[in-house]
Amino acid sequence: MLNETIRTLMSHRSIRKYEDESLPDEDIEKIVKAGRQAAFVSQMYSVIMEREKDDIPFGAPVMFTICVDIYKLEKMMEKRDWDLITNDLTLLLFGIQDASYMAQNMVIAAESMGLGTCYLGSPVRTARNLKEKYDLPDKVFPLVQLVVGYPAEDPPTRPRYPLDFVLFEDEYPEFSEKKIEKAMEEMDEGYLEEDYYRKLDAKISLKGDSSDEYTYEDYSWTEHISRKWGQWYDDPEKQKEILEACGFDLERGD
Ligand SMILES: Cc1cc2nc3c(=O)[nH]c(=O)nc-3n(C[C@H](O)[C@H](O)[C@H](O)COP(=O)(O)O)c2cc1C
Repeated sequence: MLNETIRTLMSHRSIRKYEDESLPDEDIEKIVKAGRQAAFVSQMYSVIMEREKDDIPFGAPVMFTICVDIYKLEKMMEKRDWDLITNDLTLLLFGIQDASYMAQNMVIAAESMGLGTCYLGSPVRTARNLKEKYDLPDKVFPLVQLVVGYPAEDPPTRPRYPLDFVLFEDEYPEFSEKKIEKAMEEMDEGYLEEDYYRKLDAKISLKGDSSDEYTYEDYSWTEHISRKWGQWYDDPEKQKEILEACGFDLERGD
């Protein structure tokens, strides 16, 4: 028997179609307070909210931009006459955790209230535009966006890796080819069954002139992630420049 919390967690699926209905202030407050209650390293986050805007994806009434925020930490330390000397890479690794646990608590809270959610990962690459749009000070990095609203679709849950591909006791296993293939098959079959990529029209095209042999009949999750991480963002300098534009200097050390 699953308790109510676990039932909520096991029912999670991203929602990409919303009713044209606003969220009451008290519900927004509940969601953000639940987010704020997540375990933290040093509360290195801030959340910017936008409401009832035409450009919020999927017609959702609310969009949160969850930022890693080192600015507030530094301000408080200044008041205590301390310099922040921790390097930015370490701060980012911890700050990303603070922001992520906060965000995921918000998702769980919203879904427990019957609302739908969907993360948007584009800020990692478009942070410069969001810095300008929201007037973010240096050392605030917009990590991820989250739309929330009343679902206008009811998709099934999406597949996950088999448990023995995720949980290892005492040591990391040596994977047999068969085990890797089984995990790939489970993922691919699950997504094909739902016709996921066709419905979203989300096939990633091949760079250059390589002819694409995949159609939505056989294009599934493992091909999708391979096309993503086999073609995008190979230059680390570009990502560093985006972070630098937001006030994070990965080379700085004392
Ligand atoms: C950091 C992050 C970024 C994401 N970005 C997007 C996005 O830009 N657009 C989108 O439609 N879904 C996005 N998603 C949702 C994922 O596609 C989704 O969680 C994943 O496919 C599993 O499906 P499920 O959430 O329905 O179980 C993102 C999820 C995460 C955690």
